[in-house]
Amino acid sequence: MSGHETKTVMVTGGSGFIGSAFCRHCVSDLGWRVVNLDALTYAAADGTMKQIEGHPRYHFVKGDIADRVLVADLFLRHSPAAIVNFAAESHVDRSIDGPLAFINTNVVGTASLLEATREFLGGRDAGFRSAFRFHHVSTDEVYGSLALDENAFVETTAYQPSSPYSASKAASDHLVRAWWHTFGLPVTITNCSNNYGPFHFPEKLIPLVIIKALRGEPLPVYGTGRNVRDWLFVEDHARAIAMVLQNGETGETYNVGGNEERSNLEVVEAICDLVDQRVPLSNGKRRRDLITFVADRPGHDLRYAIDNTKICDQLGWRPSTRFESGLAKTVDWYLDNEWWWQPLLEKRYQGQRLGV
Ligand code: NAD
Ligand code: TYD
Repeated sequence: MSGHETKTVMVTGGSGFIGSAFCRHCVSDLGWRVVNLDALTYAAADGTMKQIEGHPRYHFVKGDIADRVLVADLFLRHSPAAIVNFAAESHVDRSIDGPLAFINTNVVGTASLLEATREFLGGRDAGFRSAFRFHHVSTDEVYGSLALDENAFVETTAYQPSSPYSASKAASDHLVRAWWHTFGLPVTITNCSNNYGPFHFPEKLIPLVIIKALRGEPLPVYGTGRNVRDWLFVEDHARAIAMVLQNGETGETYNVGGNEERSNLEVVEAICDLVDQRVPLSNGKRRRDLITFVADRPGHDLRYAIDNTKICDQLGWRPSTRFESGLAKTVDWYLDNEWWWQPLLEKRYQGQRLGV
């Protein structure tokens, strides 16, 4: 897919946390046209698309990636130059409570999208087919857990997923590669580390802790808090995907990560200090006193870390936001955008209150 003309990109799951950042980047920075297909599950919060809703190059369609008739119709109507698949169930704790939704969307949904794409390309000429891209957005969690002193994940690290979420993402990656090897579908894959930033759903660690800290509530840290994640500001991830779409090699995988490993306790303490600086507690106490160690997540992976050498060397991508400044920006965003997250705290999804 060349980067010089107005291209139409079909994005799935574009109303979620990372997909929405990608849609904003495509429409506002790159001048691309976006068709966003999203089922609007609990994870697609109202207001997330506010910045580009109504934009002439943004088109929204509510629907499921597994709906073959709908996807075939969208392909024919919009003739996109690429499809970028973000649509997924994405929260590890939910995958422990109810794994089958993860198999349905992440595995069966991805397979269905691959078949719909294959059918669409079957009716196109060789030039269109070779310029087309099916980009699959995946996670570093497919590689399993690292010891604290082990080397970071590279693209050839063997898959060893441990949660129902990461197993379903691993399965989807295998399907995408199989469609490349078997049918010649022009695919690329990115495996990215933990993202953070604006519009992050408040069941995930960073937004959950920011909101609870603002409200002066206990801050739950699983186990001992020594688990390590490699954090990347969401807009850096969006740029990486756009670069892979434009210049990545078909059949290739690119690991994406910010080189910003932090233990969960370090992350939570940093949030406490940022919130204290901005909104001191009236009783003079520090937010760090709210940290509460709670029961560990079953099968909790100790550490994820990404070696991003390949995408940096081959495509010239670099993470542009360091963790400390990105975290401060994120805290400020949650302080300024209570209208976005406050309604989510009362919502229920499949009978359950959300994590906050
Ligand atoms: P999210 O949960 O915020 O958003 C997922 C979106 O997909 C939602 O808008 C939801 O409505 C939509 N969706 C769910 N099922 C669908 C279906 N069947 N059909 C159409 N739409 C559907 O997720 P996110 O954090 O933005 O993650 C996006 C992708 O990036 C996922 O594939 C995830 O595995 C991957 N990823 C996430 C992270 C992270 O840190 N959050 C890191 C690396 C990779
Ligand atoms: P999370 O944001 O759920 O992302 P992932 O599980 O995909 O890495 O969790 C990040 C880390 O924070 C993970 O090690 C689990 C931990 N965690 C807590 O300690 N407390 C919490 O309330 C949550 C949601 C997560």
